[in-house]
Amino acid sequence: MIIAPSILSADLYDLKTDLEKVDEAEWIHIDSMDGQFVPNITFGANIVSAIRPRTTKTLDCHLMIAEPERYVRDFCEAGADVVTIQAESTPHVHRVLQMIKDAGAKAGIAINPGTPVERIQPVLAMVDLVLVMTVNPGFGGQDFLPETVSKITTLAQLREVNEYSYLIEVDGGITHETAPLCKEAGADVLVAGSYIFGAEEPNGRIDQLKQAVK
Ligand code: DX5
Ligand code: ZN
Repeated sequence: MIIAPSILSADLYDLKTDLEKVDEAEWIHIDSMDGQFVPNITFGANIVSAIRPRTTKTLDCHLMIAEPERYVRDFCEAGADVVTIQAESTPHVHRVLQMIKDAGAKAGIAINPGTPVERIQPVLAMVDLVLVMTVNPGFGGQDFLPETVSKITTLAQLREVNEYSYLIEVDGGITHETAPLCKEAGADVLVAGSYIFGAEEPNGRIDQLKQAVK
């Protein structure tokens, strides 16, 4: 299982120290929010440029921004490894995913808790990652919505039947209690923000998540 700590819950004043505290994680999850698609504003491609030269970890960028076609190239040029757009954020999902791939990054598609898997079925063959939101996007520290788990199962089945190659990532309310539900349903990557950075020893929480899904 790949663990992706979300820096949304990190200490932005001392991000360097917080990133060192999660050195057992394989990925770093970067939540970009625009105050329009979601009611919160965080960071843009500038944070990717700042982190990129200082880590070899996969930089996993989750764009919660309206019309992401305006910004995906910036994220790729800044050094993002994975750029994930929300299915609900643009009428041009296929085009934007292709833009990400053309720019040399892996392309992901995310679905909100209220969005069915059917909505992204036409692009499943082309994506490298599908992100199932298990909370409504915008904030860290919200409770996991169990009704979203069946979408992970559906995506795992569709992948097997059609021989698709995407990773399944789950984001929102991940703890040692909810992680096993996601693993059982077929998840490959778990994003966790408050659970990891809210602890005295973030690496210990990464261990706990790995133990929980063993
Ligand atoms: C929510 C973000 C998440 C967030 C998860 O909109 O996409 O990545 O950081 O935070 P936790 O793990 O605290 O629910
Ligand atoms: Zn996220």
